[in-house]
Amino acid sequence: MSAALPAEVRAGLIRAALDARRFAYVPYSHFRVGAALLSKDGQVFTGCNIENAGYTPTNCAERTALFKAVSEGVTRFSAIAIVGSLEGKTNELVTGPCGVCRQALYEFGGPSLIVIMAKSEDDYIETTLGDLLPYGFGPKNLEIDPD
Ligand code: THU
Repeated sequence: MSAALPAEVRAGLIRAALDARRFAYVPYSHFRVGAALLSKDGQVFTGCNIENAGYTPTNCAERTALFKAVSEGVTRFSAIAIVGSLEGKTNELVTGPCGVCRQALYEFGGPSLIVIMAKSEDDYIETTLGDLLPYGFGPKNLEIDPD
């Protein structure tokens, strides 16, 4: 279990995720998601979900943020904030990362990655990827040391 994030860092990540959600491309589901990923060296990478008429190529907000970071050479992360809601609705539920995103994040964040599933700056659930993906399969299983 990781220590909780400092309040101002958490609030900044949630704000960045809310901001990124504005760019969600969601003509099919109308479900807008934003994510903000904090790297170990203090950079923030944001992402939104990007849908596709072919459905399968749709990319979740979390993986958009992750792939932006990794494609710029940043591969170690300490936290991610996620916000999602149906257009024009107040969300009842927090948006948890889908199974594919849990696995993708596990590769670069491992079980200690802090995951903040937020509705607003002061309404959120904070947990870890290890809690969301117990016994996750990662680089260590293949005897690769990600650090
Ligand atoms: N989606 C995300 O971007 N992240 C999640 O964690 C859950 C689902 C997107 C994919 C799709 O564009 C829409 O939400 C509805 O599934």
